[in-house]
Amino acid sequence: MNAGGQPANRTPLLAGNWKMHKTVAEARSFVARLLPQLPDRGAIEVGLCPPFLGLRAVAEAAAGSGVKLYAQNMHHAQEGAFTGEVSAPMLVEAGVDGVILGHSERRAYFGESDRELQLKVPAALQAGLMPILCVGETEEERDRGDTERRLRHQVQEDLHLVDSERLSEVVIAYEPVWAIGTGRVASTEQCDEAMSFIRALVGDRCKEQAELTRILYGGSVNAENAAELLALPDVDGALVGGASLDPYSFAAIAAAAVR
Ligand code: 13P
Repeated sequence: MNAGGQPANRTPLLAGNWKMHKTVAEARSFVARLLPQLPDRGAIEVGLCPPFLGLRAVAEAAAGSGVKLYAQNMHHAQEGAFTGEVSAPMLVEAGVDGVILGHSERRAYFGESDRELQLKVPAALQAGLMPILCVGETEEERDRGDTERRLRHQVQEDLHLVDSERLSEVVIAYEPVWAIGTGRVASTEQCDEAMSFIRALVGDRCKEQAELTRILYGGSVNAENAAELLALPDVDGALVGGASLDPYSFAAIAAAAVR
């Protein structure tokens, strides 16, 4: 165990999800300003999730820094007649290390289904990409007491085709929909409850893998609230939206994540 309570083999992960922000030029300038600000990362992993067109630029600008590169989506097939989509091998070729899957914005605005995610998660793993699977309840679901039902459904369905012995290669991001972009961060209690519930769900498949699985919190994380959230025993890092767009606030969150 380290100071934050995590077993040493769950390296904390901080990922900045830029969503549909930053041109290639802006992405380059961000990385140039971020790198000197990043704390000596020690045992923490830091990654950026630019839009597809920014991936190459970030890979080049961050080369040799140890900063990881994640995409925001991918198709499950290796290639095919899927206009507008990008496949795992294409991401690997671009120097990408992992991919966000099932973000609530993709589920809500682009109809991404658990059925599709069931194929995407193993496809990412097979290509050598680290999936960051997002799950989380809406405000309505929380209000009517359906949080656990929603999380159970998403975790069980989306991981269904992942071999039990590979479960810990999937990072799970708990992102309550009502906390995304709203400034309403989950309380430490809500966070704690959801995180340990998610870990128990993975544990239903394989106890050992559940202990190794990294679970992130996402939703209105910023430089002020990061330290408190990241200190929770089941929180293995954060997936940050708005506050990751500024290199100084993202670096401050990285500093809070270092133990
Ligand atoms: P915010 O940090 O802007 O609330 O977004 C969270 C998120 O959706 C990260 O994937």
